[in-house]
Amino acid sequence: AQDKTGELHRPKIHFSPKKGWMNDPNGMVYFNGTYHLFFQHNPHNTVWGPMHWGHATSKDLIHWKEQPIALYPDTLGTIFSGSAVIDTKNTAGFGKNAMVAIYTNHNHSQEQAGSDKFQNQSIAYSLDEGKTWTKYKGNPVLSNPGIRDFRDPKVSWYEAGKKWIMTLATKDHITFYSSPDLKQWKEESRFGENLGAHGGVWECPDLFPLNDKGKEIWVLIVNINPGGPNGGSATQYFTGSFDGHVFKADHTDIKWLDYGPDEYAGITWSNTPGRRIFLGWMSNWQYANVVPTGNWRSATTIARDLKLVKTGKGYLVASEPVREFNRIGGKVFKAENVSADNYQLTSKAGKLAGAARVSVSLPKAASFTITLSNNQGEQTVIGYDEGKQEYFIDRTKSGETGFEKGFAGRHTVPRFATGDPMNLTLVIDDASVELFADNGLSVMTSIFFPKNTYTDITISGGAQLGKVTYQAL
Ligand code: FRU
Repeated sequence: AQDKTGELHRPKIHFSPKKGWMNDPNGMVYFNGTYHLFFQHNPHNTVWGPMHWGHATSKDLIHWKEQPIALYPDTLGTIFSGSAVIDTKNTAGFGKNAMVAIYTNHNHSQEQAGSDKFQNQSIAYSLDEGKTWTKYKGNPVLSNPGIRDFRDPKVSWYEAGKKWIMTLATKDHITFYSSPDLKQWKEESRFGENLGAHGGVWECPDLFPLNDKGKEIWVLIVNINPGGPNGGSATQYFTGSFDGHVFKADHTDIKWLDYGPDEYAGITWSNTPGRRIFLGWMSNWQYANVVPTGNWRSATTIARDLKLVKTGKGYLVASEPVREFNRIGGKVFKAENVSADNYQLTSKAGKLAGAARVSVSLPKAASFTITLSNNQGEQTVIGYDEGKQEYFIDRTKSGETGFEKGFAGRHTVPRFATGDPMNLTLVIDDASVELFADNGLSVMTSIFFPKNTYTDITISGGAQLGKVTYQAL
């Protein structure tokens, strides 16, 4: 991170576009050993504008290479969020193993003319691993019935019914559609008008099964903006069953995949058998357009492995940094039986230089703090409050905060695990920290903008720590 180059706050181990604006991850699909990440992109400006699909690729889910823009606006509109699949059975007739993108065309002139039907679903295909794309002549493949918010199709193959399922955000509920060929879509059912969080519009959904000891439990992700647990945008989810037609939730309480404030529009990769990998946009619509970065705006979160955990509160979806993190990175420093008593981790492990992964375990759950700081007196404080049984990230004095009135603040996530022991992993980068507590049951992501990159990590609060690990990334 160098001020002189205009690259202050540029992340090391998160994807960020070289220039221009980014929001939601789109079309995430794994194919031939490569993870594809498309994204909502305005290449002309650092604020939201005419949406394109940018493109990046990675072999390890950590190091990303930006590729040429994949999808440009067309006569049907700009290219809003959506998904991508590999059509292994050539159901659409575009070719065997065609990569097919399913996205929302947003027609701004129709919107301005007062129509309610300006969002429609279209498809495009690529026969060269996402490099060049052909839009289908019959677009749109799913026309708007007259509902203003009608977008963000997430498509997956439903093997038991030998058909594609589209999960679509339709204002304050989800509508499921099915198709034999990705071209003709039929409505199956609706879900959620009277369930879950409704502080804002429903966007960017996802639907997939996870395994509980041989039992299939379906997870329905629904991003919502605003109305998140720490303000603004956030990712809620439901657990339950899906039979190819109808999704039924097995709970009435509200569940959040990441308590935010800075994970949004997160969904999962398609075509990763045996694995469910999630990634979100690391920002919040409350201030995404005004954060103080240089010639680009926004980064993604790190990729996370999802798993199902059965708790006293029903099923929870836990997320942890993808296992690829165990295979990369520099020096690892380890300490044991440390007292969290102004313990200067970085004077032992070496100064923080951008990115690192820090893990601490506590034989007994107790209050403690981990402070990231620099020589300017700026700091972000992460910790656990035993009295309230919640983890927190306090960015009140983290650096530049004045660009939006709600940015400076202290955010919390409940502890869902009970008793001892307790553990917490932080993934730290130039301008962000992601907290994964109790093996990913409590998760929270926060961004910050210090004048100088943080260099120091201090652990305080008096608790007894079992193991402390520091891995420079
Ligand atoms: C979510 C969202 C989507 C939409 C896209 C537009 O952040 O509002 O619903 O498709 O962004 O860029």
